Amino acid sequence: MSRMPLIAGNWKMNTTVKEAVDLIKKMAGPLNKIQGVEKVICPPFVSLAPAQAILKGSNVKLGAQNVFYEEKGAYTGEISPPMLADLCEYVIIGHSERRQIIGETNDVINRKVRAVINVGLKPILCIGETAKENEEGKMQDVLGRQIFTCSDKLYFLSGMVIAYEPIWAIGTGKSATGDDANKTIGFIRGFVSRLHTPDLADAVRILYGGSVNATNINEFMSQPEIDGALVGGASLQPEDFISIVKQASESKRS
Ligand code: 13P
Repeated sequence: MSRMPLIAGNWKMNTTVKEAVDLIKKMAGPLNKIQGVEKVICPPFVSLAPAQAILKGSNVKLGAQNVFYEEKGAYTGEISPPMLADLCEYVIIGHSERRQIIGETNDVINRKVRAVINVGLKPILCIGETAKENEEGKMQDVLGRQIFTCSDKLYFLSGMVIAYEPIWAIGTGKSATGDDANKTIGFIRGFVSRLHTPDLADAVRILYGGSVNATNINEFMSQPEIDGALVGGASLQPEDFISIVKQASESKRS
């Protein structure tokens, strides 16, 4: 089956509203012209509404970087799925920075995935192993547990995207090799196939993330199992991000 490639830019905790508006204005036109790849920008919460206004009528989509699992109530400072439902299409959930710095567990992440699906948003579920887990040969165990906790069939049917981001590759400039990322993503797809059906596994899009840039994107996009990228640092550089999306659209599977 052919899966539509997806490139998502995770801006993390960067840009004021004004900076975000300037950045989106620079990127919107060129990105809108690129066909054959789904494009998603994930700015901070406070910039989603202004970004949405700029992107009206464009095929560039928006995502949030996080969400809370309750619908409303006394949860000071949290943002709920219904608040995001009119603002964006995707929500990044379980990013390793939230797992490691904020202490999010697989169970919390599972609740968040369920909550966003309930309002019709699509989760981008992040999974990945640490350098230590990798060195100790625990990668498959860790990834298996992370997927298993969020493996309700409904999640896959909702259009959930998985992003494999080895933690040692994030923000380090040391990406995985295309070949290794392809093998690991193949393992993830196999895991989904055994849990559910080969058809569901074949349909789910699985991205690679971790030090993706305009120079190495082709190494990932040329791999059969890799359906796109979750880009951090390089997504804040308009020329680099546009180049990444363009190369993804020209990749052989587009
Ligand atoms: P970098 O591309 O900066 O390594 O970040 C990857 C990432 O964490 C995307 O979610």
